[in-house]
Amino acid sequence: MKLKIAVLPGDGIGPEVTDQGLKVLKAIGQKYGHQFDLKSALVGACAIDSGGDPLPEETLELCKNSDAILFGAIGDPKYENSPDAKTRPEEGILRLRKELGLYANIRPLKVYQPLIHKSPIKEKVIKNTDFVIYRELSGGIYYGDKTESQGGDSATDSCPYTAAEVDRIAHLAFKAAISRRKKLTLVDKANVLATSRLWRSRVKELAKSYPEVTVDYLYVDNAAMKILLNPRQFDVILTDNMFGDILSDESSVISGSIGLLASTSLGDDSVLFEPIHGSFPDMKGKDQANPLATILSVALLLDHFKLHEEADAVRNAAEKSIELNITTPDINATKKFARTTVVGDFISEYIIDKKSVLYKVENISLGQSTII
Ligand code: IPM
Ligand code: MG
Repeated sequence: MKLKIAVLPGDGIGPEVTDQGLKVLKAIGQKYGHQFDLKSALVGACAIDSGGDPLPEETLELCKNSDAILFGAIGDPKYENSPDAKTRPEEGILRLRKELGLYANIRPLKVYQPLIHKSPIKEKVIKNTDFVIYRELSGGIYYGDKTESQGGDSATDSCPYTAAEVDRIAHLAFKAAISRRKKLTLVDKANVLATSRLWRSRVKELAKSYPEVTVDYLYVDNAAMKILLNPRQFDVILTDNMFGDILSDESSVISGSIGLLASTSLGDDSVLFEPIHGSFPDMKGKDQANPLATILSVALLLDHFKLHEEADAVRNAAEKSIELNITTPDINATKKFARTTVVGDFISEYIIDKKSVLYKVENISLGQSTII
């Protein structure tokens, strides 16, 4: 298969984790005979620094002309505490989602058995947790009209949604539920918000077309509690843009590190894959950021193009790295942690030639800069 992939490493740890994702993609290309045509472009703070715009026209064009986008992370503290900043790095990803019509953000969460003790939550609570969040991504409060009074003493954010916007992601979530454990939970705040009542009435209506799916409805405050108290009860969680953002970070606590969670953002004509973590500026350049969320995003990319065997090869190699403790400090707080590049090297080598990399691992101390 030939695929054109736009690579947008972004800021902070984005470039270093994206590099590992690309290593893995190249390993898959080499092993299975696929051609991935990779082109990089700027987005976020680095794009503002270079030309003043967090989403330059050429970046958007490249994305529109690619089969898929691999995204790193954006954000830089130098823009954070400056309320006067004309433009913020985050605008890069927000505009990109809107321009490409990426309306569904799909964030799967599972527990890796060897990491189960890394979670601050008890093993018996999180064991066998396996759910997926369908987060609406191109509407709601993120994109509604905003006002900020001149004197800075008042501000508003509006949260518009249409039935059509709810329906298109709800259909995807119902279909996902059918292929999984057939349960869908709508998370909203229908006791307070008009938009949530719209979500509820649309989901109730659509549920009639999916009789095999059991649907339940939870207020977001209650859901936030239940996700940590009894995460196994969830299969597919459907929710709006803001609630999905919050609940997905919260859920990452279950898996032990936000550095493990990958995502797909889907539109009618475009698809983007990204780790759910941010740019983590304090970790930038240290070669210690966890590349697994990006590498697992590469697996989602392969799945999207029906390269399931290849996607499984990536997941198996990633799981092997976890099993062998070839992991970064967020999940390996020992002196023998592996560096970002070492994890990427191990996973790509494992894909190409399991035996030889396992032999090397047995013979080389992992604290060194590279095992290859
Ligand atoms: C995410 C991030 C973004 C969001 C930020 C960087 C704008 O937190 O993808 O979850 O809020 O959507
Ligand atoms: Mg977020």
